[in-house]
Amino acid sequence: SEIYLQGYGGATPMFTTDGARLEEAAERVLDPGPFAYVAGGAGTGATMRANREAFDRWRIVPRMLTDSTERDLSTTVLGETLPAPVLFAPVGVQSIVHSEAERASARAAAGLGLPFVMSTASSTSIEDVAEASGKGPRWFQLYWPNDPEVCGSILARARAAGFSVLVVTLDTWSLGWRPCDLDNGYLPFLKAEGTAVPFSDPVFCSRLDAPPEENEAMAVLRWISMITGTDRDWSALPFLREHWDGPIVLKGIQHVDDARRAAEAGVDGIVVSNHGGRQVDGAAASLDMLPQIAAAVGDRLEVLFDSGVRTGSDVVKALALGAKAVLVGRPYVYGLALGGEQGVRHVMRSLLADLDLTLGLSGHRGVSALGPEALVRGQ
Ligand code: FNR
Repeated sequence: SEIYLQGYGGATPMFTTDGARLEEAAERVLDPGPFAYVAGGAGTGATMRANREAFDRWRIVPRMLTDSTERDLSTTVLGETLPAPVLFAPVGVQSIVHSEAERASARAAAGLGLPFVMSTASSTSIEDVAEASGKGPRWFQLYWPNDPEVCGSILARARAAGFSVLVVTLDTWSLGWRPCDLDNGYLPFLKAEGTAVPFSDPVFCSRLDAPPEENEAMAVLRWISMITGTDRDWSALPFLREHWDGPIVLKGIQHVDDARRAAEAGVDGIVVSNHGGRQVDGAAASLDMLPQIAAAVGDRLEVLFDSGVRTGSDVVKALALGAKAVLVGRPYVYGLALGGEQGVRHVMRSLLADLDLTLGLSGHRGVSALGPEALVRGQ
């Protein structure tokens, strides 16, 4: 209501948070390379479009006279109470859109009490993000290095810095085919600051012939070769348990059989995600895979969701279809580009306000009551 009341008073927000126009606003302030890297997807962009179309096919069926004037958005995810079922998705190299990079996003997340999922590909070190995050909830996302000691060192640092949940991304053992980045000759990792996670890791640096600042290109190549092209299978998971004493979540699950394997492997959660359509072109919409996965494993592990969440009603739909909470990627990065920490805060607060109103107007007092009966399949 605060945001609306400001509007009645004639005040306009710092920038629009309407999906397409937010992206256009970010495009105006970013160089073509960074903008395409953030906005782009794999191949023809079909998966990215499918993510949105899947949301549009579901429609909310509002209920009346339910006394939903007082709402409670809070929920519990992996034992942590969150003020809303929304997390900041792990997004790497944020220095390409703003000099404060992950520090600004982590501060905004902490201010809202929402978990900041820090990427292994961050341009800011684990310790710096932890400091920016303060008392805020923080999770750590792993691109899994094939050198066990480097992996162990990174995980130990994350645990020591107060990251509670480990999110292991499985769908990016190689970068997808992304023509938008090829056209711009743009691979942002090569421009990462020396504070990036691997370059600030003593065990990783011990693997190099020269310090990263002396031969950055060689250091980057060594790191990329450590996190790509590795032929792991499900038998590799116990390694993570040995090196992480908190909850473990697998990100990038799309097939119901993989969700079952995850449950059998005893992980604590999964993120049903197609990486925002950045990996496989022509892939299934992430939302279309959610209901059967939630039905198969929702009673055994925490089912989280991402890819295409833009509005409050998107959050309602994902929760109604079985997600416990959603992760949001590109929108907050556009906020970062447009206004640093305040920009991120503006985007995420607007999403939360939209969620709150949509939930109430749909006749629900809380997020836990949402189920498939709240929706109908549109034409
Ligand atoms: C990502 N994503 C991602 N995921 C991950 O596990 N580690 C990472 O380092 C990154 N980096 C990254 C960079 C950029 C620029 C984007 C847009 C995305 C994927 C991210 O966590 C999430 O799955 C998607 O962004 C969700 O889709 P939406 O919300 O962007 O549609």
